[in-house]
Order: sequence, then structure tokens, then C-alpha cells
Amino acid sequence: MSVGGDPGTGGIPSGQVSTDTRIAEHGVSLGEVRMPLLGLGTWQARGRAAVEAVRTALDVGYRHVDTATMYGNEREVGLAVADSGVPREDVFVTTKLPQGNAGRERETLEESLAALGVDRVDLWLIHWPPGGRARPDVWERLLELQEEGLARAVGVSNYSLAQLDELVEATGRAPAINQIEWSPSLFDPRIVDGHRDRGVQLEGYSPLRTVNLRDPRLARIADAHGVTPAQVVLRWHLEHRIVAIPKSTNAARIAENAAIFDFELTPDEVQSLDALGRG
Ligand code: A2P
Repeated sequence: MSVGGDPGTGGIPSGQVSTDTRIAEHGVSLGEVRMPLLGLGTWQARGRAAVEAVRTALDVGYRHVDTATMYGNEREVGLAVADSGVPREDVFVTTKLPQGNAGRERETLEESLAALGVDRVDLWLIHWPPGGRARPDVWERLLELQEEGLARAVGVSNYSLAQLDELVEATGRAPAINQIEWSPSLFDPRIVDGHRDRGVQLEGYSPLRTVNLRDPRLARIADAHGVTPAQVVLRWHLEHRIVAIPKSTNAARIAENAAIFDFELTPDEVQSLDALGRG
């Protein structure tokens, strides 16, 4: 992924530098497709606030935006990307098939592409197991639409390891990625290893909402590095090579969440954060 366009300074608090080259440098490979480890989540961001959040994020260097048909903001995300001056091919865009649209995969993806104003998305996910089931038939449709070039990579969200196995057993093809709720408080090595063993990239959503940012163990590590607890949580994802998509519509917090490339956590610090998953 090359870095193009003028990152600009809109929305960057004074003293904050653009982080764009480093966001693009920290990525994972989904087959041939490179995905930045840090992205902007957009759940509950609507209307003008959604446009401004995505635009601010692109200005401060984000190159990855996560949306979904269910969020009702694909149009806003598309507008912000188009107006940003960042070349389309430099922005990784994810959207998702609502579980209720199982059986309408092609129409749903075509509607997403039209709303986003793009020819293809970088990643398309089944948002939830439809009706709580793995549904290999739906997964087959995603693979077909990927082969047609409408999505560069395809995967799932909110699937269990057993449901991932069901998809592989039925189709011989594993999802590139599974997006699940994740944070130090939810850390479970069996889930990490289970995804690694299956060759499925782990992506976490709600990295900040699901952790107590006032936890003294988190505060101690933050103080040691002169950063905020939120930055420690996001850096922890990076150390584990788990994709994180913190959501914010606040310009200062959008920039704060991307300023995680100037420090590293020690293995001991990572382990003590892992332990938050045990209470
Ligand atoms: P806001 O949009 O006002 O910034 P998650 O991505 O884990 O679901 O978290 C989203 C929530 O966390 C939102 O309420 C968001 O509020 C808030 N948030 C985002 N970034 C930070 C941060 N750096 N520090 C504290 N809260 C944050």
C-alpha cells in the first residue's frame, strides 16, 4: 500500500504529527491483500458526524475505515473518502452483509458499492452468523462475489471457532478474517491460538468500550510510557498483531488513537494486560 495524497492538518490537535506512513507500514496480509492493523470504527456515527470523523481520520493518517450496511453510513464514508484527496487504492474499506440479507448477497453488495461510490470493497464480512448458524451457503456466495472482483477479501464477524470449522468443512475455504469483540478484558489465548491454527486473522471491535480505562494496571503502564490508557490498549492489539478499529467521532480522540507508533510495550507489559482477561 503506497502513501499518497496530502495528509493535511485538518482536525489534528496542535503539536500532533501526522502518523500516516506508520499506519500504512503496520499491516497484515489477507492472502494478496494488505490490511492496516489500525482502522477507524464507525458504528453509531451518522450523517455529518460520520463524514467529519472519516475525513479527520484520513487527514491524520488512517488508511482503513470499517463500516457496515447496518450502520446506515456507507454513503457518508464514501463521501469522506472521495473528498479526502487520498487515492481510493490507499484506503482499506470494510463493509458487512446484515444477517437478515442472507439470500440477497449480490444485491446487498451492489447496494453497498453504490452507497460507498466504489467499484469494489477491500473486505466484505458476514456481519453475524445468520440466525445464529454458520450458513456455508452464504459463505459460498461471498467467495463467488470475491472471485468476480467485487470484494478483494472476504470473511466473517462474530463467528465461533466451531462455526469457522463448519465453513471450512463445507467449502474447503477459510474466511480471511473473523471480526469479534476484543480487548485486554476479553483476552483468551485459546481464541488467539484457535484463529492462528486455522489461518484466520483476528480483528477486534469495541477495543475501548469493553475495557475499564481506569484500571490501575493499565494506568501504570500508560504512565510508564507517557501515553493514555486508550493508547496502551490499542498498542496491545498491535503487539499481538490483532486488527483494531476504535470508534470515535471526536477529532482529538481520533488522532490520539492513531498516535500509537512511537512506543512499544515490553513482553511483561503485554502479559500483564493479557491477565486482565482473567479478571
Ligand atoms: P467518542 O466517539 O465520543 O470519542 P469502541 O471503539 O471500543 O466501541 O469505543 C467507542 C467509545 O469509546 C465511544 O464512546 C468513543 O467516544 C470512546 N472513545 C474513543 N476513543 C477514546 C479514547 N481515546 N479515550 C476514551 N474514550 C474513547
